[in-house]
Amino acid sequence: MESILGINNLPENYNIKVITSGRDETVEIAFSLGLLLHASDIICLDGDLGAGKTAFTYGIAQALGIRGVISSPTFTILIEHTKHETHDIVNEGIPNCETTDMIQNPEINTNNKKDTNNKKDLKTNTNTLPLYHFDAYRLSDADEFYDLGFDEYFSYNGVCVIEWSHKIYQAIPPSAIKITIQQGSSEISDQRILIFSFPKEDCRAELFGKNISESGYQKSNVQ
Ligand SMILES: Nc1ncnc2c1ncn2[C@@H]1O[C@H](COP(=O)(O)OP(=O)(O)O)[C@@H](O)[C@H]1O
Ligand SMILES: [Mg+2]
Repeated sequence: MESILGINNLPENYNIKVITSGRDETVEIAFSLGLLLHASDIICLDGDLGAGKTAFTYGIAQALGIRGVISSPTFTILIEHTKHETHDIVNEGIPNCETTDMIQNPEINTNNKKDTNNKKDLKTNTNTLPLYHFDAYRLSDADEFYDLGFDEYFSYNGVCVIEWSHKIYQAIPPSAIKITIQQGSSEISDQRILIFSFPKEDCRAELFGKNISESGYQKSNVQ
């Protein structure tokens, strides 16, 4: 599966594996990644139907302060989310990794793994990046994606999240962060294995790994 989705085809990448045991945990991890995103980032999500791609997108949307329902744009291919609400998180994007000490995971859901002592460092979110949520399931190939002009969104001032990205893999720039979500143990229906593949030069990979470790998740680096 990994090679089909292109993870092993990237010679220069940094892979992190995390196991979640429920939707809330996947959302929380996506939220952590969302805090690190900035304009023109592209997040590719692959995995079977029901894997958790839309749940992951929801976590990113929360981190961006997006208001509104997040659902798979299976028929429209794209949903643009531009309505934001201010909330108390640090999320000003990270143009480089010099501001890493500023990044704190806020409390989300009711997960008690969060460190609430860091609230003094939180400030009102000023990041109002749009979220461009794609679902490429119904596209036949990258040419169709290009024909519809969707590649233009890659240079817009927002974050692109693409479910079923392997359908259009020829259109995905090498700077994209790729995530595959697989069913975990067949005996644990809510378990998912998330594999993140960051371009090697993307300094957020280590920061992201550090943040989720600090949130109590076991992660491992994979080849
Ligand atoms: N660990 C988990 N991570 C994400 N979703 C999970 C997990 N365990 C169970 N689920 C459930 O799996 C479903 C995932 O749905 P969704 O995010 O729409 O999948 P996809 O977009 O990949 O088709 C939801 O019903 C969610 O509650
Ligand atoms: Mg979906």
